[in-house]
Amino acid sequence: MKTGYAAALAGAAMALPAFAGAAELNLICSADVVICEKLVTEFEAAHADIDVNMVRLSSGEAYAKVRAEARNPQTDLWWGGTGDPHLQAAADGLTMEYASPSLPQLHDWAVKQAEVSGNRTVGVYTGALGWGYNTDIFTKKGLKAPACWADLLAPELKGEIQIADPNSSGTAYTALATLVQLMGEDEAFDYLKKLNANIAQYTKSGSAPVKAAARGETGLGIVFMHDAVSQKVEGFPIAVVAPCEGTGYEVGSMSIIEGAQNPDAAKVFYEWVLTPEAQNLMPEAGSFQIASNKAAKTSAEVPDLSNIKLIDYDFAKYGSAEVRKALLSRWDAEIGGRAGE
Ligand code: F6P
Repeated sequence: MKTGYAAALAGAAMALPAFAGAAELNLICSADVVICEKLVTEFEAAHADIDVNMVRLSSGEAYAKVRAEARNPQTDLWWGGTGDPHLQAAADGLTMEYASPSLPQLHDWAVKQAEVSGNRTVGVYTGALGWGYNTDIFTKKGLKAPACWADLLAPELKGEIQIADPNSSGTAYTALATLVQLMGEDEAFDYLKKLNANIAQYTKSGSAPVKAAARGETGLGIVFMHDAVSQKVEGFPIAVVAPCEGTGYEVGSMSIIEGAQNPDAAKVFYEWVLTPEAQNLMPEAGSFQIASNKAAKTSAEVPDLSNIKLIDYDFAKYGSAEVRKALLSRWDAEIGGRAGE
C-alpha cells in the first residue's frame, strides 16, 4: 500500500521498468483510515498483482475530487463515505454503470442504492446518526444527559459541541438532511442557528467531533453512532445516543469512476470488498457499521437499528445534485463560519 507522499513517489517511479506489469488501482477511501488501510493491506495480500494507491478523503471532499478530475480521471474506485455524494456523482455521470454479480447477496438497502443510481453505485454499509458525549465532562460540569435533538440547544452546552462541516463531511450533510426531513427546511435552519451558539468548531471529517469528545477536548460530538461506539470500545468515557425524536442514517456506498484508467483492477477490488470475508474485517478495524453482504457477521457492538427511531430517509431526493447543492449553499449563507455566535 502506498499513501500520501509515498504514493506520490511511487507515481513518479511508475516509469521505471521494475514496476512494469504490476496493475495499479487508485482508490479513494472515505471511511475511517484504520479500515481503509486494513482493506488495502488484506486486498494486496490476496492480489499480489495489483498495487493500490489509497487516499483517505471525507465524502464531500471525495466528490469534489472526482468532479474536478472528470476530464482526466486519476481515481479508479471510491469506497465508503455516505451515499448522498455517491448518488450526486452518479447523477452527474461521474461514475460508471456496473451491475455487480454480487447484488443478490446484498441487503435490500444496499441494492436500492444501485437501483436508484442506474447501477452507478452500491451500498457497502449502513449506520444511524446520533452523538457521543463524554460522561466524565458531563458529570463534572453537572450537565443533563442529552437524549433528544432539543436537548442540544441547552445554553449550558455553549462551546461543548462539535459537528463537521457538511461541505466536506457526509456525516454532517446527513445531519443537515435529517433535520430538514424531521422538522421541515425553515425549522431545521432555525434549529441549526440556535445549535450554532453551542458549537465550538465545525470539523472537516465527520468522526473528528467524537474523537475530540473522547479525549476531553469537547463535551459532545454529533456523529454516526458507530463512530461513537468505536471510541467507547477503545475505552474512552463515551455514551452513545440515538436522538429521541428520530434520526437519519447513511448507506455508505462504493462507485467505479467513469473513464477510470484501471477499470479491471477496480472491478476486482469491488467484488472482493463485497464478500463477507472482506466485510468481516470492519469490526476488527474498529468500524461498527452494518455491512451490506447478508452473510457478513454483525458484531455485538454494532448499534441495532431496530431499536432506533429511524426516519424514512429519502436518499434519491437528498442525494440529488439540486437538493444537495441548495442545502449546502443555504448552510454556507446562514450557518458556516460562525461557530459559537
Ligand atoms: O468513520 C466512518 C464513517 O462515519 C462512515 O460510516 C461514513 O461513511 C464516513 O465516516 C463519513 O465520513 P465524513 O463525514 O468525513 O465524510
